[in-house]
Amino acid sequence: MSTEIILDCDTGIDDSLALLHLLQHPDAELVAVLSTAGNVGVEAVTRNNLSWLEFCGRSDIGVHVGASGPLVAPLRTCEDTHGDHGVGYAQLPSPTTAPRDEDAADAWCRLTRERPGELVGLVIGPLTSLAMAIRRDPGLPQRLRRLVVMGGSFDHPGNTTPLAEWNVAVDPEAAHEVFTAFGVDGAPQPIICALNLTEQVALTPEHLSRLGELADGPLVRHLNDALRFYFEFHQAQGEGYLAHVHDAFAAAVALDPSIVTTTPAVVDVELNGTLTRGAMVADRRGFWGRPPNALIADTTDVPRFLDELVRSLATLAGRHLRPTGTARRPQN
Ligand code: RIB
Ligand code: CA
Repeated sequence: MSTEIILDCDTGIDDSLALLHLLQHPDAELVAVLSTAGNVGVEAVTRNNLSWLEFCGRSDIGVHVGASGPLVAPLRTCEDTHGDHGVGYAQLPSPTTAPRDEDAADAWCRLTRERPGELVGLVIGPLTSLAMAIRRDPGLPQRLRRLVVMGGSFDHPGNTTPLAEWNVAVDPEAAHEVFTAFGVDGAPQPIICALNLTEQVALTPEHLSRLGELADGPLVRHLNDALRFYFEFHQAQGEGYLAHVHDAFAAAVALDPSIVTTTPAVVDVELNGTLTRGAMVADRRGFWGRPPNALIADTTDVPRFLDELVRSLATLAGRHLRPTGTARRPQN
């Protein structure tokens, strides 16, 4: 049974890995790709989404332009993390296709009306477009089969402020509105893949070496160029020459939630704190007297996921998998 996914992203480097993994995964049906401003501006996000889809021969999948900035806060982007164009050093071919006329919020509303209870929402960027959709159609959350969000950080440092994680920090109001609308009144509890788990999921040069043993060609070159930038960013942050592939992991959870253990909690977002704005807060002990509205992903088999990701990317690169050390010679 395929998992039909609406992907809402701020394509970026790890968003790219998530998109490619979903394109390759046999159980995934990508219904739409929605672009939201975050890592880079929404035009660059949209261009990256169109480029990757065209590169993979999947321009049949609609790309929809979403929010160009947060609900309230001024837009902030992070070219230092993902590069000026959002894909590191990769030089993707310019897309020849265009986004659909329908914006991302309307796509959220329409698709869940057309296929109530069938679609899985996966948000791996700021939650602005989804929040706008819920404002337009408050019945949307009840029509989703599942929602998986990459965002927040629980009992773990932030990556944007001491407590806040990027996707939530960019648009705290949107995150608050989304987490208030889900997990109540029959809407599914979002599965939240936060930094406490996703920062355990580190792709390394060794993984790229294995990818190079299994496959070659233009996709592998683009991935090497994109990830080299991401490795350099993490090294400059003192985290080592590696890449936390937050979004690719969240995509795997969207396809199969059984790969994580979870804890129910009441989650909400700090909007007013001088030092804490954008922090996600989890009440696991009933202090607030509210029923749990989310499931926090706690543990996973990291090596198993990373091995699956490498094999997925190798397969998408168009080469049959080879046992390590017997890579095929490039065809003449
Ligand atoms: O904090 C990590 C998240 O912020 C990821 O989604 C990454 O792509 C950036 O958007
Ligand atoms: Ca992202």
